[in-house]
Amino acid sequence: MKKILLSGVKPTGRVHLGNYFGAMKQFLDLQDKFESYIFIADYHAMTTVQNREELSQGIIDVALDYLAIGLDPKKVCLFKQSDIPEVHELTWIFNCITTVPYLMRAHAFKDAEAKNKEINVGIFDYPILMASDILMQDADVVPVGQDQKQHVEYARDTAQKFNRIFGKGEDVFKMPEPFILKEVETIPGTDGKKMSKSNGNVIPLFATSEEIKKAVMSIPTDSKGVDEPKNPSESLIFAIHKLLLEGPKLADLRTKYEKGGLGYKQAKELLIADLEAFIAPLRAKRDALARDLSAVKEILKKGGEKARSRASAKMNVVREKVGVEVK
Ligand code: TYM
Repeated sequence: MKKILLSGVKPTGRVHLGNYFGAMKQFLDLQDKFESYIFIADYHAMTTVQNREELSQGIIDVALDYLAIGLDPKKVCLFKQSDIPEVHELTWIFNCITTVPYLMRAHAFKDAEAKNKEINVGIFDYPILMASDILMQDADVVPVGQDQKQHVEYARDTAQKFNRIFGKGEDVFKMPEPFILKEVETIPGTDGKKMSKSNGNVIPLFATSEEIKKAVMSIPTDSKGVDEPKNPSESLIFAIHKLLLEGPKLADLRTKYEKGGLGYKQAKELLIADLEAFIAPLRAKRDALARDLSAVKEILKKGGEKARSRASAKMNVVREKVGVEVK
């Protein structure tokens, strides 16, 4: 029996290289090894996206992104979170065993508070909805970037607490493990900060040629001349470039930096060329998929049915455990 993998992406604008290398590539690389459940976190997106067209377009976009990178719907159950209403029932139950001070320790909440943002109840409760996503499907592993690690810890704590209060010696919920690859745990954006939509420093995964050029050209550099040797581990251009290369090609580029003779302009041109070579086939595949949206919607529908039937069985156990199932 294969172990269960679960993860999701929020439909909040275009996915970028941070999402891909930090998480989505792992969905792809692990799709044969695990029984996988990959979803579109549309209700999580609603904490920020409150516009009908934007949200429904975002859902289709992420579905196309998943398929275009190569997730195979025959192997992976692809679905949208909103097709599993049981998740909200579970969230309520978890809410009732979660304290306010505990949720106030969440990084995302503290950040929003520090920035004096208006915080809706959805943002505050975000980690518990995520715990429900994960625990509902009995996930063993949750591939994510470093920024989601704390959320997986919330899911673990919640599983433990539920089992302690209601389990009567039985582990109703499994303990999920975050799966975070050290070398890609935080992909930098074009300004060196974590690549994220809110930092405005992204390279979209399906960027046009123009967007690739513009993003790479905006990467800041120091004043070293062409002939000067450069330390690749100090270069942001290299930090992004190395995501695309391995083996001798990567070693070769490293040597070019160290030897001197490679100017930043040329380093950027090499990066643009490799990004284009990496992205162009993905773009073409996505465009082809976008021509038959009804097939995409059908995949989501089928995936939703499968994920929901598991959720429904799980909730039967949970309802019985908490005592609302009167026999
Ligand atoms: P989201 O949509 O913000 O991001 C999707 C995935 O991309 C990763 N990521 C990064 N990894 C490395 N470097 C970066 N610069 C970078 N930027 C983003 C994120 O860590 C994430 O893995 N809360 C989740 C969605 C979610 C979820 C879940 C995930 C909802 N329920 C249950 C797993 C399990 C989120 O907002 O991801």
